[in-house]
Amino acid sequence: MVSFKQAVVASIYIAAATAVDITVSRSGGNATGDARHHYGYGFLHEVRIPHVLELTLLTSTAQDINNSGDGGIYAELIRNRAFQFSEQYPVNLSGYHPVNGAALSLQFLQQPLSDALPASLRVGPGNGTSSNPIGFANDGYWGIDVKQQKYTGSFWVHGSYKGQFTASLQSALTDDVFGTVKVDSKAQAGQWIEHDFELTPEKNAPSSNNTFAVTFDPKGTANGTLDFNLISLFPPTYKGRKNGLRIDIAEALEEMNPSWLRFPGGNMLEGNTNTTHWDWKDSIGPLKDRPGFPGVWGYQQTHGLGLVEYLEWAEDMDLQMVVAVWAGLALNGDVTPEDQLQPFIDDALNEIEFIVGPADSTWGSRRAELGHPEPFNLYGVEIGNEDWLAGYPEGWDSYKAYRFPLFHDAIRAAYPDLQVLASAATSDPAGDGATSGPNITDGLHFPKDTIGDYHPYREPDELIEEFDRFDNDIGHIIGEVAATHPNGGTRWSGGLLPYPIWIGAIGEGASLIGYERNSDRIRGTFYAPVLRNLNRWQWAVTVLQFAADSALTTRSTSWYVWSLFAHHPISNTLPVTSDYGPVYYDAGQDTSRGALVWKGIAYNTTDHAPVPVNVKFEGVRPGTKAVLTVLTNAAGDPYAYNDPFTQVNIVNTTSTTLTAGRDGGFVFELPELSVAVLDTDVGVKHPWGGHGGGWGGHWGGGYGHGDGGHWGGGHWR
Ligand SMILES: *[C@@H]1O[C@H](CO)[C@@H](O)[C@H](O)[C@H]1NC(C)=O
Ligand SMILES: *[C@@H]1O[C@H](CO)[C@@H](O)[C@H](O)[C@H]1NC(C)=O
Ligand SMILES: *[C@@H]1O[C@H](CO)[C@@H](O)[C@H](O)[C@H]1NC(C)=O
Ligand SMILES: *[C@@H]1O[C@H](CO)[C@@H](O)[C@H](O)[C@H]1NC(C)=O
Ligand SMILES: *[C@@H]1O[C@H](CO)[C@@H](O)[C@H](O)[C@H]1NC(C)=O
Ligand SMILES: *[C@@H]1O[C@H](CO)[C@@H](O)[C@H](O)[C@H]1NC(C)=O
Ligand SMILES: *[C@@H]1O[C@H](CO)[C@@H](O)[C@H](O)[C@H]1NC(C)=O
Ligand SMILES: *[C@@H]1O[C@H](CO)[C@@H](O)[C@H](O)[C@H]1NC(C)=O
Ligand SMILES: *[C@@H]1O[C@H](CO)[C@@H](O)[C@H](O)[C@H]1NC(C)=O
Ligand SMILES: *[C@@H]1O[C@H](CO)[C@@H](O)[C@H](O)[C@H]1NC(C)=O
Repeated sequence: MVSFKQAVVASIYIAAATAVDITVSRSGGNATGDARHHYGYGFLHEVRIPHVLELTLLTSTAQDINNSGDGGIYAELIRNRAFQFSEQYPVNLSGYHPVNGAALSLQFLQQPLSDALPASLRVGPGNGTSSNPIGFANDGYWGIDVKQQKYTGSFWVHGSYKGQFTASLQSALTDDVFGTVKVDSKAQAGQWIEHDFELTPEKNAPSSNNTFAVTFDPKGTANGTLDFNLISLFPPTYKGRKNGLRIDIAEALEEMNPSWLRFPGGNMLEGNTNTTHWDWKDSIGPLKDRPGFPGVWGYQQTHGLGLVEYLEWAEDMDLQMVVAVWAGLALNGDVTPEDQLQPFIDDALNEIEFIVGPADSTWGSRRAELGHPEPFNLYGVEIGNEDWLAGYPEGWDSYKAYRFPLFHDAIRAAYPDLQVLASAATSDPAGDGATSGPNITDGLHFPKDTIGDYHPYREPDELIEEFDRFDNDIGHIIGEVAATHPNGGTRWSGGLLPYPIWIGAIGEGASLIGYERNSDRIRGTFYAPVLRNLNRWQWAVTVLQFAADSALTTRSTSWYVWSLFAHHPISNTLPVTSDYGPVYYDAGQDTSRGALVWKGIAYNTTDHAPVPVNVKFEGVRPGTKAVLTVLTNAAGDPYAYNDPFTQVNIVNTTSTTLTAGRDGGFVFELPELSVAVLDTDVGVKHPWGGHGGGWGGHWGGGYGHGDGGHWGGGHWR
C-alpha cells in the first residue's frame, strides 16, 4: 500500500506473516524540528516533538469554529459587550434583557465611548417601571458558568448618578441570586467613566443557565436614564492574565504538551473582502480602542483576543509561533494588484517589528508600552493562507507571480533569521484525492529558504496511505491536519464526522509518526481546528469540545493520541529495520532524558488479531526496563467518539513495565486499532488516566489500567 522510495530503512526483513521484528540502530538519524535549546551535542538538539495546535481556529477560519475565540477560549463572559458592528453585521441588542421593566435602546451618542465603539446601551424607565432599581441582564455566551470564585468586571457609564450600582450573577430559570456586589457610582454628566468591581458568588450555581445583571436606582440620576458600554466580566483566567484565557480550555490544551501555535489563521486572516481582513493593528491596545471586525463565520468579532493575547498565550505555554500575515487575497477572490501591494508588505513588516523588534524600534516601543518590552520569540512568518484555493486561478497566479516573491524578499531582507513559509504545499493545488508529491504543472516553485504548509483533511484510510508523503520532499509545516471524513471516499460531499472518531485518531497517529520520521523537514504539525463551541459550531471535528458549562469540556479521542505522542518527545530519529503495515512506527532518542523511544500504531490487522511486536534497540542491555503505554478503544466500534453529553471516555490507557530480553528486545502485542509508545525513561507522567485514574472528576477515571509503578494519582500535574 505504501511505497518507500527513499526510506530510512537500512535493510528489510519480515519475520512472519503477522509478527513485526524491529531493530532500531544506535545512530544515524535526523535531529527533529528546529532547536530552541542547544546542548552542544553536534546536531542533536533538545526539542519537544513538534506536534501542535493551530490557533487559527479560534476566531475563525475554514477550520475555525463559530465562537471558539469570543465565547470560547477568550474568557470574556458578556456577549455583545460593546455593541460592535459592521456593514455585514448590523448593531443590535442581542444577549440583553431589561430588568424591572426598564426600556433598553441602542444609541449613538454625540460623545461616544471611543471612535472604535460608537454604539452604546441606554437604560431608562419603561412604561411599567415602579420605584425599583432598573437595569439590564446579559445571557452570556449561551449561559454563564457561576462558581464560587472571584469574577472581575467593569462597565462604562455616561450620565450623572449619585448612588450605587448592583452587579449580580443570577439564575436565568429561577429567582436565585448566586452573588451580588454594590459598586459606588463615580458617574458624572457629560463623561464616560469606568467602574470596576469584583464579585465572588456565595455558592456554585446548579447549571450554567445564568445571567449577569447591572441595576441602578433611577431616582439618583438626572432624568432616570443612563448610558452603558463595554460591559465586561471575567472569571479567573489562565495564568491570571488580565483579558486572558478560559482556564479549563487553556489547561486542557497545555496538558497536551504542545509546542507550536499558528495564528491568527486561516480564513479569518484572509477575511471576506480585502477591506475586512484581520488587521492586527485593530486588535492591540485598550479594549475601548478595538473596533472588532466582521469575522468570516457569521458574527462580528470583538478583537478581544488580539495579537498580544495570542503572543502571550504562546509565551505562557512555551510554544513556538508561526504568525500569518495578510498577503493580498481575500476569500471572495479579491486580489491586490501589484502596484497596490506595498502598503500591505509594510504592514506585515510592522507587525513583525511589533513582535520581535527591539523596544526602541517604532513598533517594538508600542509593544513595550503595552507591557512587553522583551521581543517575543517568533519562529516564522507565513505569507497568506491557502493562496491556492480562494479566487483560483487569479489568486494562485498572482501569488506565484508577485505576491509571494515580494513579501518573501522584503521579509528576508529585514529579518534574515526568520523562517518564511509559503501558504501552500508542493502538492498544491491538489485535485480532490490524497496527494503524495509536487504538482509539477501548477505548483509553486519554492525558493530554497522557504518551507511550505500542508493541510490534509482526510479519511483515516487516506492518512495511512499518506504515511510516506514526505519521504521525498522539501520542508513543510503541517499547518492543519485532522481525520475529518469517514472512510469510503465520500470526502467533502459526505460532510464531516460528528466528533473525532477512534479510527480517525489512529489515522492521525500514523500521520504524526510519518511526519516525525521526516522531522528534519517537517517542523511542526498542527491539529485544526482545536475548539468547538457546542452551542454554535460549523466544524464538528475538533480536539476539544466545550460550552458555557465547564463540565462539558471534552477531550476527544484525538486529544489522547496527540497528547500521548507529545509527552514522549525525541531529539533525533533513529533508523529502523523493518517494513510497515499494519504497524506504522518510528523510533528515536531524547538526549535530554537519556531515553530511547518507539512510537507505533496498529491499523487494520489480519483477522482483527493482535500483532506481536519485538522492538530491539541496538546496544540495550538485557534487563533494561521500559514502559509501554497503549491506547485502545473501550467501545469497540471504530467510529466511536468521546461524547460531551455522556462524558464517557472511550480511550482505554494501559501502561506496563517491560524488561528487555536476552537479545535486548522488548516483546509485546498491539491490538488492532491501537496506539503505543515504548519509552526507556520510566519516569514519564501523563496527565490523565492510567492506574491513578482520570482527572479528578467528570470522566470518572475513564478506563485506566496500569502497573502503577510510574505514574498515577498525585503524580500528574
Ligand atoms: C536523515 O537520516 C537519513 C537516514 O540516516 C539520512 O539518509 C539523511 O541524509 C538524513 N537527512 C538529513 C537532512 O540529515
Ligand atoms: C411602552 O408602551 C409602548 C406603547 O404601548 C410600547 O410600544 C413600548 O414597547 C413600551 N415600552 C416598554 C419598555 O415596555
Ligand atoms: C440550561 O442550559 C443548557 C445548556 O445550555 C440547556 O441544554 C438546557 O436546555 C437549559 N435548561 C433550561 C431549563 O433552559
Ligand atoms: C436624559 O438625559 C440625557 C442626557 O442629557 C438625554 O440624552 C436623554 O434624552 C434624557 N432622557 C429622557 C428620557 O429625557
Ligand atoms: C455558525 O454556526 C451556526 C450554528 O451551527 C451555523 O448555523 C452558521 O452557519 C455558522 N456560521 C457560519 C458563517 O457558518
Ligand atoms: C445581532 O448581531 C449578531 C452579529 O453581530 C448576529 O449574530 C445576531 O444574530 C444578531 N441578533 C439579532 C437578534 O439580530
Ligand atoms: C480590492 O479588491 C478589488 C476588487 O477585486 C480591487 O479592485 C482592489 O484593487 C483591491 N484593493 C486592495 C487594496 O487590495
Ligand atoms: C495540479 O493543479 C491543478 C490545478 O488545480 C489540478 O487540476 C490538478 O489536479 C493538480 N494535480 C494533481 C496531481 O493534484
Ligand atoms: C479498515 O477498517 C475500517 C473499518 O474498521 C474500514 O472502514 C477501512 O476501510 C479499512 N481500511 C483498510 C485500508 O482496510
Ligand atoms: C483496557 O485494556 C486492557 C489491556 O488491554 C484490558 O485488559 C481491559 O479489558 C480494557 N478495558 C476496557 C474497558 O476495554
